[in-house]
Amino acid sequence: MSKFYSIKICAIKKLTDEAVEISFDIPENLTQVFSYKSGQYITIQSVIKKESIRRAYSICSSMHENKLAIGVKKVKNGKMSTWLNEIVKVGDTVDVMPPNGNFQINSRSKNQSLGLCAGSGITPILSILKDTLHNNDDSTFTLIYGNRSPESEMFVGELVALKEKYINRLQIIKFYSDLNIEEHFFGNIDENNLLEIFANKQELLNSDNFLICGPGNMIDNLNDFLIQKDITKDKIIFERFSSSNVDVEASDVENLACDYTFIIDDEEYEITEENNKESVLDIALKNDLDAPYSCKGAVCSTCKAKLISGEVEMSKNFSLSESEVKEGYILACVSHHKTKNVTIDFDVF
Ligand code: FES
Repeated sequence: MSKFYSIKICAIKKLTDEAVEISFDIPENLTQVFSYKSGQYITIQSVIKKESIRRAYSICSSMHENKLAIGVKKVKNGKMSTWLNEIVKVGDTVDVMPPNGNFQINSRSKNQSLGLCAGSGITPILSILKDTLHNNDDSTFTLIYGNRSPESEMFVGELVALKEKYINRLQIIKFYSDLNIEEHFFGNIDENNLLEIFANKQELLNSDNFLICGPGNMIDNLNDFLIQKDITKDKIIFERFSSSNVDVEASDVENLACDYTFIIDDEEYEITEENNKESVLDIALKNDLDAPYSCKGAVCSTCKAKLISGEVEMSKNFSLSESEVKEGYILACVSHHKTKNVTIDFDVF
């Protein structure tokens, strides 16, 4: 189920002092397994200082480039991101789960897209931007990209080359929060700055897609702002790299025993759990079931499963759509049982 493959690193490119692009050499027999859609991510697993760690990283390449690459920015105290930035080298193999994720648009049809991102949030948006401009000659893309300074900006050279290639179809607007630089915006991408941009470029409000990627609070604020500007929800898609500070707490669920049936890889497993303190995912994992997961924070949707019978309560949800929830999908990493019998199917994806 959560199958990892040993994949060799074929290139590492330094993007900034704190970020790298890592490309993988996908063997011929795995090209189908590792084919991806722009905007998706892969999960990497490694044992670092005796601790097994999994992290999801967005793909920055696009399928037409015939490569699979991720952008990794070092985060403070981030064990995996530091390992990938400082320790791994070309020729090493790492354990990689195949691509996953729903942050996608239909790049084949004519699109006017607006991407809003900060820091490493550029990674999946860059992939979608390249895909969109490559796949339809009538599509346009406006990128609004925020960083602390030019030194911390990922993919600078690639964006310059893309701007030259798509001179009339790609527009890039940059923000710097630490430096006031002529011709660029000073500060964060927020409501006030966007109002100024939209006042001069009203056509941006007619975009077909609004893509947002960055810190949780930025996503929430920009999403609210776009809805206030009468952008319909179906046009706004976002990808979170971390949960927002505002967590929705689970309501008091009774301390209840439960007979679980888990379906994983066409096998059924019966497990009795004495209480509902642990999540559905943790209950499966501690019983040695191979349930898939990555972030364990309701963000990536790798642990998506279908509730076949019984009831669970999801304490947070940053990745399932309303329709998926209505259809009975859950995020196992933040779900707790509420009934004495529950059947969860990890195979229905
Ligand atoms: S493991 Fe990422 S949403 Fe559950």
